[in-house]
Amino acid sequence: MPEDDRRRPGLNPAVPIRRLGMLRRAIAIHLDPLHTPNTEPDAPMFDEIPLSSPDITEAEIHEVVRVLRSGRLSIGPVLEEFERLVADRVGTTHAVGVSTGTAGLHLSLLALGIGPGDEVITTPFSFIASTNCILYVGARPVFVDIDPTSLNMDPAQVEAAITPRTKAILAVEVFGDPTHMEAYRTIAARHEIPLIEDSCEGLGGRGCSKSGRRNIGAYGRVGVFGFYPNKQITTGEGGMIVTDDDRLADLCRSMRNQGRAVSRVDLSRHDPPPGGSGASWLSFERLGFNYRMNELSAALGVAQMRRLDEILRKRREVVERYTRRLLSEHRLVLPNIDDAESMSWFVYVVRLTNEFSREERDRIMAGMRRHDIGCADYFPCIHLQPHVRNAFGHKPGDFPIAESVSRRTIALPFHNNMTDRDVDLVAQTLELMLAREGLRGM
Ligand SMILES: Cc1ncc(COP(=O)(O)O)c(C=O)c1O
Repeated sequence: MPEDDRRRPGLNPAVPIRRLGMLRRAIAIHLDPLHTPNTEPDAPMFDEIPLSSPDITEAEIHEVVRVLRSGRLSIGPVLEEFERLVADRVGTTHAVGVSTGTAGLHLSLLALGIGPGDEVITTPFSFIASTNCILYVGARPVFVDIDPTSLNMDPAQVEAAITPRTKAILAVEVFGDPTHMEAYRTIAARHEIPLIEDSCEGLGGRGCSKSGRRNIGAYGRVGVFGFYPNKQITTGEGGMIVTDDDRLADLCRSMRNQGRAVSRVDLSRHDPPPGGSGASWLSFERLGFNYRMNELSAALGVAQMRRLDEILRKRREVVERYTRRLLSEHRLVLPNIDDAESMSWFVYVVRLTNEFSREERDRIMAGMRRHDIGCADYFPCIHLQPHVRNAFGHKPGDFPIAESVSRRTIALPFHNNMTDRDVDLVAQTLELMLAREGLRGM
């Protein structure tokens, strides 16, 4: 009998053991908010509710197996198909598949000619890669504070930070929210500098402004998506550069492939020679990298792209479940869901109200993890990370809104197939941890 189907005699046979384990645990902490779970080595292990979980169906498995059987594992026709699907969805002329979102950002900055002595305006409230790519090319990240509602950069501060050395604005759709992208686009156009859109968290979102709707990824001169397993769609590891700029796309295609001349991929049945026979395989036009996306990843991406609308709908449903369940919790600020069409939900991040300290937030998260509920402190501020702080002399207080938000955020488990019961268990555990903090202060 499959592991999941075993039932414990005498208990409701309709409820799998792992769910009963979680329920029992929930009841235990419900009865005793200061209860600490048994951490003895032989204590029963219950399934956790993870922070994220990829949504892989038979369709994805079929596509990957098809590639394995094809004999062509790198830089082939499936990558081309994946690139076409993403470009068509975003509405750009080109899409260039790469090995990670970080690699895509790195190539984009190089292709735009950004280098030492240049400044790039960006947000301190993001995943580290959106700043690291600026450091890779020797440029200086110029941080500006965020707007406390969308958590994206405050457009007025972006405008104020522009100097003659500013070579680009690198904007992030934080947690998948396109708010202010049109404003950054206007500022960039006025100053004749490129907008680089780090869209790693936003595939499928669609911003709204006076001039109409625009897909996330299509605001910038270049946009970059990431496909790590916690993203809306995954390729295991992977990224995609999107642009309407032919020259920029060609440069990225060349640089992802060791600086080789750009040609349409060879559609033969076999991989191009690694050390090879073909003359063009061993001629290089510029300094390049191995940032290629392999065919297995691309196959996963093709199957996920075909399911993108279903995936986005499932994620919206989980958001609605959380919102219904947590709406009356006055100690939390919930994510803004005013414009349901705009967001592409990457994560579900709640914020504790102002009276909570970082230490209290961290204790709440530790308590949730002890009860097998995944959670994370998205995001610690980038300007206070040691390598950035040391290089540019930043200190606490430099970006007060970003820092204040960052101290109080908790990313809750968020994935496509979360049920009402999963959401309820997360919410119940969070409420109990909040109650425990309340008791501590008495
Ligand atoms: C905003 C942002 N930028 C860049 C990246 C980097 O993407 P990857 O992990 O694919 O390199 C991520 C991924 O988590 C991200 O969230």
